[in-house]
Amino acid sequence: MATLWHPFSDMAAVADHEFVVDRAEGVWVYDEAGRRYLDGCASLWYANVGHGRTEIVEAATRQMAQLEAYSCFADIANRPALELADRLSALAPMSPGETKVFFGSGGADAIDTAVKLARGYWQARGEHQRVHIVSRETGYHGTHGYGTSIVGIPANREGWGVLAGENTVAPQDLDGVEKVFADVGPERIAAFVMEPVTGAGGVHIPPAGYVEGVAELCRRHGVLLVIDAVICGFGRLGTWWGIERFGVQPDLVTFAKGVTSGYLPLGGVLVSPQVAEPWWTTPGERTLRHGPTYSGHPTCCAAGLATLDIYEREDLIPRGQQLEAALEAALAPLRDHPYVAEVRAGLGLLAAVELTPEVLSSVTDAPNALLRGARDAGVLVRGLGKGVAVSPPLTIGDDELRLLGEGLRAGLDALPAEPPVPSAPGA
Ligand SMILES: Cc1ncc(COP(=O)(O)O)c(C=O)c1O
Repeated sequence: MATLWHPFSDMAAVADHEFVVDRAEGVWVYDEAGRRYLDGCASLWYANVGHGRTEIVEAATRQMAQLEAYSCFADIANRPALELADRLSALAPMSPGETKVFFGSGGADAIDTAVKLARGYWQARGEHQRVHIVSRETGYHGTHGYGTSIVGIPANREGWGVLAGENTVAPQDLDGVEKVFADVGPERIAAFVMEPVTGAGGVHIPPAGYVEGVAELCRRHGVLLVIDAVICGFGRLGTWWGIERFGVQPDLVTFAKGVTSGYLPLGGVLVSPQVAEPWWTTPGERTLRHGPTYSGHPTCCAAGLATLDIYEREDLIPRGQQLEAALEAALAPLRDHPYVAEVRAGLGLLAAVELTPEVLSSVTDAPNALLRGARDAGVLVRGLGKGVAVSPPLTIGDDELRLLGEGLRAGLDALPAEPPVPSAPGA
């Protein structure tokens, strides 16, 4: 009798039909029978430095032997948490070295923290009406309370009854965002939350000028800009936080995944000095009544420090940009496949292949059918609502990128769909 409940899964279909992964090395993953697969999605957009890095394992093991875990509540600290905060702050896209760093265990709790900090900031400033959160269509921000409220994927918001907070999901065009600001009343908006390139919502590259325009609109109306760098950070777009590619300075940045390359769970928020100020200035005035048990977990932070060492020593961060053209070239031939509606790629080392409406309506759970077909061909990808995503480790080579394209083509060819009949000339 199956008992493991898989996230984002149809358990009635999945139970007792699991694909059990056993080990991994570099960009390769092996199942229990020893068959190898190209990790085309860096697990879940996170294995940026690749698998099997003994240096991260050893750093975590050393830390575990010395001090496996200890709370950071009140005045307690540990050396790995202090050092990782300093290193991340020094790399921050706003006020490097002065930006504050709050740690949690993943991306969704980083989002909850960022939204609460944004709202708390305005309460502390006396603008009590600023509680509304605006987010971007197709954005995904995890599945905790606020992440579920502000998600730009309607299916994820449905079926739970009343959700937390007041919020509006804005369209992916600037006029639409301006209209949302006008309708809500900009003086009521606490923050705009945005992934620079949306990931789980389908890998949508922002229209030219969109990110910059939203930032300008936020600045004009005093709205805080929260950049969700959970996927876009740590090299996925070729920079530390992704947002540098747009020349925009955020007020808060959420991160997770690539900070440890997934070796241990860790996430957090970069907080600008301005936003941090109400909590950091006058002793006795204000305590942040928020914080997960594992905030500043020493073993997770030691894994983060070792991961940063690898990014820096191997100069991996720019590869997300250096490889974006090669990834697009590897997937471009799929644009002609009769089952493909669109291939979205070209900004960062991530892409999506979207299936045609006919395939989506005629094949049961077509995205996962494509995922399984690609897997049978030796390539692991990630299912999305209308297709699949790829986001390989930053260490991937050109030949392996080509394999990724070939595996996807094999998966498409294996879909149990009828190729569309070409329409008769003149019809
Ligand atoms: C952009 C973004 N934000 C937040 C999250 C949530 O992160 P986690 O699953 O670690 O809670 C994710 C997860 O995929 C994400 O892609």
